[in-house]
Amino acid sequence: MSINRRQFLLLTAGLAAGCKNMGDGGGVTPATPGRMVNAGPASHYATDGVYSHFRDQGFFVIRHGEKLFALSSFCTHRKCKLNAEPDHSFYCKCHGSTFDPAGHVTLGPARRDLPVLNTVTDESGQMLVQVPAL
Ligand code: FES
Repeated sequence: MSINRRQFLLLTAGLAAGCKNMGDGGGVTPATPGRMVNAGPASHYATDGVYSHFRDQGFFVIRHGEKLFALSSFCTHRKCKLNAEPDHSFYCKCHGSTFDPAGHVTLGPARRDLPVLNTVTDESGQMLVQVPAL
């Protein structure tokens, strides 16, 4: 997807306001309040792995081959911050849930996978991540 930063901000502001979703026949998209975080140049994530720089801001950046994406860093059980493990899985110290490198639950009590956050790389190569409100 190639849009500029302004278009991305307008798009995500529209989602936050609960605009109509034209892709499913006109249903209303739930509001997605949150904020936009600039994760820096996408080129900084060239090597496969989990980047934890933005854990406290709500996400991990993941590079897996050609894929570059952001996963929420908050456990889907009760929203404790997750720790990235050396094997690229995620562990929640609060009640012991674990998630695989793609964010799928591997051990409860969490039952929902980690959400993949909306991202875009703008025309200057900056990776922008939409972080939802908790
Ligand atoms: S908050 Fe993560 S397992 Fe309960």
